[in-house]
Amino acid sequence: MIKLISIVVGGFFLLLAFQCKKKQQTCEPIESVSYSQHIQPIFNANCINCHGGNSPDGNLNLESAVSYGNLLDPQMGYVDTINPSSSLLYNSMNSTSNPMPPNGKLDKCKIELILKWIEQKAKNN
Ligand code: HEC
Repeated sequence: MIKLISIVVGGFFLLLAFQCKKKQQTCEPIESVSYSQHIQPIFNANCINCHGGNSPDGNLNLESAVSYGNLLDPQMGYVDTINPSSSLLYNSMNSTSNPMPPNGKLDKCKIELILKWIEQKAKNN
């Protein structure tokens, strides 16, 4: 009986510890965000299947040769270094009604990284 109780109690604490670990999932700390090293790879993996080629969705091509120029087009508001969280790029990823990518949100760490890149003045670095 005692054995059974200790297994149940032990299991409970194990589960608790596991849950805590899951919650604490922290993002890789990146001091200085690099467009080519950190941001473009996110687009390559999650966006260019739609935002690429000759007629990209939303008329926005995010392939590496052209993405920076397109995103920084001052007419479009994709990137707003004065009010980073108003950037259309950032908001499109956080949108609940029409998120980018449409099949599901990017993970929190990637979205935070893109915001940080904009906060660090959206450099082509
Ligand atoms: C399955 C295809 C698909 C994928 C994948 C996708 N998009 Fe889009 N995206 C679209 C379509 C279609 C539009 C244009 C229609 C619209 O605005 O809903 C669009 C529009 C946009 C816009 C313009 C929004 C606006 O309001 O003008 C941005 C910014 C954007 N996408 C960013 C991204 C980013 C960043 C990714 C990757 C993280 C991504 N998209 C992945 C299909 C996609």
